[in-house]
Amino acid sequence: MKTLSDTFGRKFPYIRLSITDVCNYSCTYCLPQGYKKTPGDTRSFMSAQEISRLAKALSELGVCKIRLTGGEPTVRKDFFDILKDMKQNSNIPKVTMTTNGYRLDKIAEQLCEAGLDGINISIDSLNRETFKKLTGHDRLDEILEGIKTLQKLNFKNIKINAVLLKGINDNQEEFKKFGNFIKDKNIDFRFIELMQTGDNLEYFKKNHVSSKIFKDFLEKNNWIPQTYGKDAGPSLNFIHQEFKGKFGLIAPYSKDFCQTCNRLRITSRGDLRLCLFGNTGISIRHLLQDDTQKDELVDLIIKQLHLKKESHYLELGDTGITPNLSSTGG
Ligand code: 5AD
Repeated sequence: MKTLSDTFGRKFPYIRLSITDVCNYSCTYCLPQGYKKTPGDTRSFMSAQEISRLAKALSELGVCKIRLTGGEPTVRKDFFDILKDMKQNSNIPKVTMTTNGYRLDKIAEQLCEAGLDGINISIDSLNRETFKKLTGHDRLDEILEGIKTLQKLNFKNIKINAVLLKGINDNQEEFKKFGNFIKDKNIDFRFIELMQTGDNLEYFKKNHVSSKIFKDFLEKNNWIPQTYGKDAGPSLNFIHQEFKGKFGLIAPYSKDFCQTCNRLRITSRGDLRLCLFGNTGISIRHLLQDDTQKDELVDLIIKQLHLKKESHYLELGDTGITPNLSSTGG
């Protein structure tokens, strides 16, 4: 069996696959003016058929989890075709997605039926006004309704992500609100430290805050840190006897963050990205045009991995070719 590994001994069982750059939200830290086409990039997003071929090749490389991401993946009309095909025909054991949840109340049932294995939902604040200010949409209630439906249907793997923002959601009140939310639910809630991207330098300088503030809160309130799993995300999780859900924090600026890197990214236009903040992104799309190209595709991906660097060098202010996360698949 072929596997994906790099020259530093890391293995890559996990792929984040963007299927569109389009997002209908305008989050202040990502697309404050809303989604706009990249001038000059006339390439279309990968078709469902190209994505299907890609997933099959990835399964031969020992990939055991694909996360569908965007942009907002569910804005694609053929989103469910892509998801179902991947579940039924690709041999990838876990197919998950990241979403802003904007239609979750309407599609929760369909997601369960399609066999989705996990969902990450972005909710930066449980305060309706703050949520609206951050995303440009007054949709918190619909998302919470969607989560309720998922739970009623016994959907197992629900995670909520919030970007930690100075002066906005980095206070005890928000922490406690999120705590109350996961107290009697099997839902994990994680704070992600704001990352600098090509587009958001001013915003980053103003709003970045270390996740230490949240870690201190957790430690003070008797939350206990856990260790990482094989295809797990980069989240450091905390458990508590009196809470069903876990808390987590994702700290991309912490010293050893890249040592446990286990994922690669593929952009919606079929570029393989070895690192969210890397400077290279070679296209693999020419090898998605026919089923007979699978072996060639597998070999190309293996070869590319030798170029993966040890660290993202983000702490040096090097954001690579990532203008914002919607363009690389957050
Ligand atoms: N820094 C940290 N997280 C970000 N996200 C989008 N942009 C950034 C950024 N600059 C988050 C989204 C979503 C996840 C996929 O990434 O809010 O929760």
